[in-house]
Amino acid sequence: MTASADSARLPGATRPVALVTGPTSGIGLGYARRLATLGYDLVLVARDEERLAGLAAELDRKYATRSEVIAADLAVAEDRARVADRAGAGVEFLVNNAGFGLSGEFWTLPMDRLQAQLDVNVTAVVQLTRAALPPMIAAAKGSIVNVASVAGLVPGRGSTYSASKAYVVSFTEGLAGGLVGTGVRIQALCPGFVHTSFHERAGIEMSSLPKQMWLSVEQVVADSLHDLERDRVLSVPGVQYKVITTMAGLVPRPLQVRINRGLFNSRGRT
Ligand SMILES: NC(=O)c1ccc[n+]([C@@H]2O[C@H](COP(=O)([O-])OP(=O)(O)OC[C@H]3O[C@@H](n4cnc5c(N)ncnc54)[C@H](OP(=O)(O)O)[C@@H]3O)[C@@H](O)[C@H]2O)c1
Repeated sequence: MTASADSARLPGATRPVALVTGPTSGIGLGYARRLATLGYDLVLVARDEERLAGLAAELDRKYATRSEVIAADLAVAEDRARVADRAGAGVEFLVNNAGFGLSGEFWTLPMDRLQAQLDVNVTAVVQLTRAALPPMIAAAKGSIVNVASVAGLVPGRGSTYSASKAYVVSFTEGLAGGLVGTGVRIQALCPGFVHTSFHERAGIEMSSLPKQMWLSVEQVVADSLHDLERDRVLSVPGVQYKVITTMAGLVPRPLQVRINRGLFNSRGRT
């Protein structure tokens, strides 16, 4: 085993390490639990230290998983640098999942909230991917899942959120080309609506969404891992969203934009 592969283990442990951002709730929590069942030790990164510690204890109890907890706000440069240092020391699996949306008109929101969204949804993804790749490439082994969204594939609701997710899709697709033959897999995971605390936290009212449009965290994580196994760079969980994204791809872009403007459905979303 190379030094790089060694560094993808916690000290004294034999299991590979996965770093998950945003594992205190929703998709990140589902991903962390699933990776623990698959035999990974974990590096858990989010702001809520108490919930991180609670998750670490749960995973230890249920799966004998060893977890390293890093309390960090990914909107803060110093915190991102600390997490990047850990990613650069070697992990075998990186899940760039932390992210958030905002409600309210773009032109009314404080610039610091918009900047924080950009930093968590985009800067952290680029920075942690940049840090994690060299040891993965040296070990010729590794997986990176960047959590984007259907919103990054289909123009429509919101401005900065969709734009941040489009960046993640484009970044991941481009990087996938460069990683061919390195032994490192990368994926842009593009879920539709998922039952998590995302919409409540963003202040987005979702009661009118038809039941069939909701995905479960478990389905999203299972489909992502299934697609990763098949080396699929783009993962769109759920038949309904595969149909929507495929159909949208067939509609000329100017027409998509006209339809969106006609529906006025971007008001109040960023
Ligand atoms: N739910 C959906 O319908 C949906 C659809 C498509 C894509 N997504 C994407 O899926 C990802 C996960 O979202 P979710 O639905 O699981 O939402 P969630 O339940 O609100 O979880 C978000 C996670 O991100 C962490 N986080 C937020 N801001 C952070 C910051 N500044 N620094 C560090 N961690 C931060 C949160 O932890 P702390 O609060 O403890 O820091 C939490 O663990 C996001 O990237 C989101 O854009 C969600």
